[in-house]
Amino acid sequence: MDSKNILHIDTVALNEEANALVIIDQTKLPGTVEILELTKQDDIREAIYLLKVRGAPAIGVAAAIGVYLAARDIKTQEYDVFLKEFQAAKEYLASARPTAVNLFWALNRMEQVVLDNKDKPVSRIVQLLHDEAVEIREEDIRVCKSIGEYGLSLIKDGDGILTHCNAGQLATVRYGTALAPIHLGREKGMNFKVFTDETRPLLQGMRLSAFEMVSAGVDTTVICDNMASQVMKNGWVQAIFVGCDRVAANGDAANKIGTSGVAILAKHYGIPFYVCAPTSTIDMDIHEGKDIPIEERPAHEVTEMWFKERMAPQGVNVYSPAFDVSENELITAIITEYGIARAPYTESLKEIFAKKEQARKK
Ligand code: MRU
Repeated sequence: MDSKNILHIDTVALNEEANALVIIDQTKLPGTVEILELTKQDDIREAIYLLKVRGAPAIGVAAAIGVYLAARDIKTQEYDVFLKEFQAAKEYLASARPTAVNLFWALNRMEQVVLDNKDKPVSRIVQLLHDEAVEIREEDIRVCKSIGEYGLSLIKDGDGILTHCNAGQLATVRYGTALAPIHLGREKGMNFKVFTDETRPLLQGMRLSAFEMVSAGVDTTVICDNMASQVMKNGWVQAIFVGCDRVAANGDAANKIGTSGVAILAKHYGIPFYVCAPTSTIDMDIHEGKDIPIEERPAHEVTEMWFKERMAPQGVNVYSPAFDVSENELITAIITEYGIARAPYTESLKEIFAKKEQARKK
């Protein structure tokens, strides 16, 4: 095992000298901590598609840096030509994955910089794109810390916490969303007993959350996805924290496949089920969860990946949606950087955005 502690490394960064996107290759974790420096658009898009960088906020930050790097390479001083090539680069990165709205949120924010500054020289626009990408990255750290503080107010020292997939530091720049309360609690000397669902088929829970929690010195237990009910029945779980890839205006939340099953179990056992969502993950243009586009992944990720040999008969059908939607009535609260939203979410999420707007005007 590589001795580098991933908690000391930001998950996504910009190397200013090399003009490269810097990420930890998450497909190699936990066995190897390999840092990748990517400069080519094909490599950046592929890193997102293959989940070398993954998790909604981290994907957004990677795309913002990626499209800035693309803009640097556009060889023209004519605004109209620049805009066209910038938009082509934006669309290319946007096509990497469909569910995490942060990808589109970050790319749209970058595009807005280009649109708002059409009167400026192209070289100045590129500088402004740099500043925006850096700000999106810095903002992610502040947002996650704030979500962590709100989340921490809902739990107490010694609690058992169950999580699904990885919505930790590895899914953001720092801290994470669903695991941020644990990291911040650790900084304050608190301790929790964390259960990480392994999260089939790509094992983000076992490979990433468990690794991250063990690296932080947290008492961590990996369970197979089908063990969650038993662990809850045993009385070992006082709260469930998960992340999300897109929240609809009514509070329905898409997250890693299997999350909705955990939400249903939580309701059955009377355990609070918290969804941690930066406002960049809340899509007020989508009314209900059923309208959230759900990515389907290739069959081999189910039948072959991680096994020594193929574990399914040749010719069998495979259905592999990467995300599912937990309906709002299953969600105890949605924790954002502007506070904790509770049902009815159609109202409380609007209030969250009103607070965001107020903060922006200050
Ligand atoms: O397919 P992944 O690994 O990108 O899925 C990640 C998740 O489902 C996370 O829970 C979500 O993106 C929130 S990350 C803070």
